[in-house]
Amino acid sequence: VSHLLGIKYLQKSDIDLIFETADHFKEVINRPIKKVPSLRDITIANLFFENSTRTRLSFELAEKRLSADVVNFSAASSSVKKGETLVDTVNNILSMKVDMVVMRHPNPGAGVFLSKHVNASIINAGDGAHEHPTQALLDSYSIRERLGDVAGKKVVIVGDILHSRVALSNIFALNKLGAKVKVCGPLTLIPKHIESLGVTVEPNLEKALNWCDVANMLRVQNERMEVSYFPSTREYRQQFGVNKQLLNSLDKEIVIMHPGPINRGVEITSDVADSKQAIILDQVENGVAIRMAVIYLLASKIKQ
Ligand code: CP
Repeated sequence: VSHLLGIKYLQKSDIDLIFETADHFKEVINRPIKKVPSLRDITIANLFFENSTRTRLSFELAEKRLSADVVNFSAASSSVKKGETLVDTVNNILSMKVDMVVMRHPNPGAGVFLSKHVNASIINAGDGAHEHPTQALLDSYSIRERLGDVAGKKVVIVGDILHSRVALSNIFALNKLGAKVKVCGPLTLIPKHIESLGVTVEPNLEKALNWCDVANMLRVQNERMEVSYFPSTREYRQQFGVNKQLLNSLDKEIVIMHPGPINRGVEITSDVADSKQAIILDQVENGVAIRMAVIYLLASKIKQ
């Protein structure tokens, strides 16, 4: 059985194939009839053990536009609340003839664990602070769309790197695609040995922005912190927030990204988030085509 558990497990050629397939589906979903009949014989369960807006709706739309049958599961309203285990939950759902599972879970490695214990294709829709592979794919796809290519581009990931699955998956994807990557943020929110992943640390935001072609702005994930890693929101905003004045002071116009949800006025001001420099809603739009591509390619292996 094939899975998408993390970008770590992909080759560059896998990512290239996903992008080429997404190019086709992007054209499809811009037609008056946004659907193709490709996956009429596939049933997919979306299992969300953690909150989501973009990823959950994007997967559901991607599945429906491929004509798959879809069931949605939210842990908060399920028998997980009565003590049912993850493996029991998923095996019960699979016994209803489900072929593929999309799962978001708060525990790092939950997707890898599940893939070893159940007989279905698993797509990781975010596992704790570990990986969020489809987010990284749609991010690199959006860079490719805006700048023509990812190879050779300079990308800085700004913010709470320590708790961010988006950062880790982006680092893996950008490295595989030949981009140069820096991380920028409070040193308390940057993992100690991050250089071993092939990135450099730039603690000064202005220097980082002057270096890069693209800045991917991340949210501080207070929900993953037992203690506060930074003195205050006001200080964070002053040192690591992007605003229009700062962007206007740079030598060139850089591309601004954000995976969402945005904390407006903290890591990014509204005049930046809503500007032409920002491709935040393009990222969301591309998420549907990328997820269609991932599901289609995995389903083709189920059907073999
Ligand atoms: N980018 C992202 O994963 O957003 P959601 O948490 O809303 O799915």
